[in-house]
Amino acid sequence: MAAYEYETHEYDVVVVGAGGAGLRATLGMAEQGLRTACVTKVFPTRSHTVAAQGGIAASLSNMGPDNWQWHMYDTVKGSDWLGDTDAMEYLAREAPKAVYELEHYGVPFSRTEEGKIYQRPFGGHTTEFGEGPPVQRTCAAADRTGHAILHTLYGQSLKNNAEFYIEYFAIDLIMSDDGVCQGVLCWKLDDGTMHLFSAKMVVLATGGYGRAYFSATSAHTCTGDGGGMAARAGLPLQDMEFVQFHPTGIYGSGCLITEGARGEGGYLTNSEGERFMERYAPTYKDLAPRDYVSRCMTMEIREGRGVGEGGDHIHLNLNHLPKEALAERLPGISESAKIFAGVDVNKEPIPVLPTVHYNMGGIPTNYFGEVLNPTAKDPNAVVPGLMAVGEAGCASVHGANRLGSNSLIDLVVFGRAAAIRAGEVVDRAAAIPAANSASLAKAFDRFDNVRHANGAEPTAELRLDMQKAMQADAAVFRTDKTLKEGVDKMTAIAGRMDDIQVTDRSLVWNSDLMETLELDNLMPNALATIVGAEARKESRGAHAHEDYSTRDDKNWRVHTISRIEGAKVELSHRPVITEPLSKESEGGISLKKIAPKERTF
Ligand code: FUM
Repeated sequence: MAAYEYETHEYDVVVVGAGGAGLRATLGMAEQGLRTACVTKVFPTRSHTVAAQGGIAASLSNMGPDNWQWHMYDTVKGSDWLGDTDAMEYLAREAPKAVYELEHYGVPFSRTEEGKIYQRPFGGHTTEFGEGPPVQRTCAAADRTGHAILHTLYGQSLKNNAEFYIEYFAIDLIMSDDGVCQGVLCWKLDDGTMHLFSAKMVVLATGGYGRAYFSATSAHTCTGDGGGMAARAGLPLQDMEFVQFHPTGIYGSGCLITEGARGEGGYLTNSEGERFMERYAPTYKDLAPRDYVSRCMTMEIREGRGVGEGGDHIHLNLNHLPKEALAERLPGISESAKIFAGVDVNKEPIPVLPTVHYNMGGIPTNYFGEVLNPTAKDPNAVVPGLMAVGEAGCASVHGANRLGSNSLIDLVVFGRAAAIRAGEVVDRAAAIPAANSASLAKAFDRFDNVRHANGAEPTAELRLDMQKAMQADAAVFRTDKTLKEGVDKMTAIAGRMDDIQVTDRSLVWNSDLMETLELDNLMPNALATIVGAEARKESRGAHAHEDYSTRDDKNWRVHTISRIEGAKVELSHRPVITEPLSKESEGGISLKKIAPKERTF
């Protein structure tokens, strides 16, 4: 084993990541008196949730009639019938409770005249099981909802004595020989010391892997660290081929312009000034779900109706909206449009383009956040001591396509669910497990090998090759040809990791080493994405396959499970859970209502 001194820390629970899901889990654990640490590579309030703009979905009915059954139906339809029905019911049912808890913790939501939480329309959220008009279900704090939630949850976690280890980079999970997670090895970035966090429960809340792509709304920190650690621990990932493109990333920078902009009355136009969404989605128009709007925008550009010199983007119009409304409801994006596109939203349209935004796939879990290993003898058994929540996990509540504002609610509902579950399964009186020395040695050895990597491939170059391959070949529209090319390219790129070059060998603030470790995490996520996409011979949600343009429920209403080892990916499948949690006679949704059908808007 590479010779590093390390400090051991012992907790009931260690949460890795301090975004919305990590902080909600941390807070829920700490509130129950579990000794809880939260380990994070960035300062908690700089986690990527801070960039979430438009809001958090919950059927509060503050602006008109709504109920959890309608929310569940929209989530099922949004998922293109790939979501697990138990998890989708749990999400929709628990959402109002979770939002009111946030309110009581102190989240400064925007308010209606009567002082209720303000809710705005978002794509795919409807009434009457998709038969009625759009609903105002997305609870908002102007267009800085994630920011408001993150700051509140961090404050509450501190108040409840959760302990934070900030700017600690998680290297690898420590696993027993019989597959129990016993902790996580971390590197403290500012002084170079090594730290073993031993715990009865480790919660991965590390976010998505948007940075596997060239242009993403995701922060540069979104490097799929949880997925990377899970893959190296021999655990599979699920449904990785489903990558969401947000319709309105700013052309060029990729910076997010919230869907709330269209919720507040904004609309898209092509080079002929046409509000083209009216043609594609006569009922919901610009508020159709994201996968659909992104495809329509791409078709407009392909057919020569894109705007700008190169005819390669689309306009988002807000200049017809009252100045005061923009200032009150959309101040953040008004500023972003000025900074990143040089546009005054009161006067000019914003140039936008579908941009990678969210990973529907991740580490498979049940709806309590407990990690599953569908490739094990018992595919429904949980991996003891390990949970995954938020974008890192796959419950699977979003299936093939997530509805806007269902991400923030996923973070808090499942962060909270993980805490409730940990309260039941973590034995407070039991001893903290001693770390398996072989697993610990393996983690140190990998770290040391990367630190001293002396190959010919600079990290930045290899990363760029990966990002360009993913952007070109795992795009909004995919074909057999592009996917096959993508698999070949990505297999070769992943193989080049063996020849990686790290030039800085120090341990203190070594961004070269950290970026290489991040790339080592991005790589299995990217590989699983392209290999899973190549294998799926149908179109469903965000996976729009031009050679198989329709959904094939007979053969493909299954989750893709990928085991990744080096540059190899082995695929298998797992059935979708089609049973809801509650029966119709108990107030649940009828199976007939959520039976698969064509998705029209
Ligand atoms: O458009 C947005 O504000 C993003 C929301 C989301 O991804 O849920």
